[in-house]
Amino acid sequence: MQAGAEAAEATYEAMAPVYDSFTAHHDYEQWLTELLDAVQRHGLRGSRLLDVGCGTGKSFLPMLDRGWEVTGCDISPAMVELAKEKASDRAELCVADMLALPRFGEFDLVWAIDDAINYLLGPEELQSALEGMRDNLAPGGLLLFDVNTLLGYRTFCAETVVVEQGGHRLKWTGLARSDTPAGSICEAILTEEGGAAETHRHRQRHFPEPEVRDVLEQAGLKCLAIHGLYTDGILKQPLNEAVHTKAVYVARRS
Ligand SMILES: C[S@@+](CC[C@H](N)C(=O)[O-])C[C@H]1O[C@@H](n2cnc3c(N)ncnc32)[C@H](O)[C@@H]1O
Repeated sequence: MQAGAEAAEATYEAMAPVYDSFTAHHDYEQWLTELLDAVQRHGLRGSRLLDVGCGTGKSFLPMLDRGWEVTGCDISPAMVELAKEKASDRAELCVADMLALPRFGEFDLVWAIDDAINYLLGPEELQSALEGMRDNLAPGGLLLFDVNTLLGYRTFCAETVVVEQGGHRLKWTGLARSDTPAGSICEAILTEEGGAAETHRHRQRHFPEPEVRDVLEQAGLKCLAIHGLYTDGILKQPLNEAVHTKAVYVARRS
C-alpha cells in the first residue's frame, strides 16, 4: 500500500466512531442535488453509482433513497462497517484502496466526494486512482470528484476549530499556513477531548487545477467541467482557488 493510503486508513480507522458527529453540519441532501445537476448537464444516463471513499455512507445513502443502485468502497474497514449498518442490504459495500481499485462493474456515475481524493499524495497516485475509476465507467458514464482548493488549505486546514456534537468534543488543529504554497502536503490533527483523548493525523495534498487537468488527460479522461464550491454547498463557475474552498471536476472517458 502507498504511504498516503496507509496514513488515510490509519486515520479513518481511528476516526470512524466520531466521523458522523464531526461532519453532522454537512447538508448532503442539498449538496448531492447540486452534484447531480452538474452531471445531468453532461448527459447522465442510468442510475448505477460507484461511491469511492464512501466512508460511513453519507455520500451514498441519499442516493439509495433516490432509487440508485449503489456499490461503495473505502480503505477503512471501520468506516465500511458503519456504512453497512446504515445501508443493511441495500448497497454492495467493501473495503478497497482506490489506488488498486477492483473492476466492480459498469457504472453510470463514479464519484469520490467530500475529501477522499485529498488523501492521495501526488500526481502519480491521482493518476492511478483516476485510471481505476475510469475502468469502472459504463459507456458514456461520468466521473465526478472534489479536491480542496488553496483557499481550503489556507483557511480550514490552517485553523483550530472545536466541534461539540453527539456527546463528543472534537478539536481540529490545522497545521497549514495562510501562505501555504500550491501543491503542498498539509497536515491537520483531530483530537477527541475529554476521557482518554485520541488523536487522528490527516495528511492531504493540494492539487492545482492545471495539474488535475493534465492528470485527467494522462488517465484517458476528458475534463467536461470544473466548478468551485464555497461552504454554502452551491456550485459556481469559473473555479477560483482564492474564493472557493473546493473544486469539483466532471469527466468522462476520452
Ligand atoms: C472525509 S471522508 C468522506 C467519506 C464520504 N465520501 C462522505 O462524503 O462522507 C474521506 C474518505 O476517503 C477514504 N479514503 C482515503 N484514502 C482512500 C483510498 N486510498 N482508497 C479508498 N478510500 C480512501 C477515507 O477512508 C474516508 O472514509
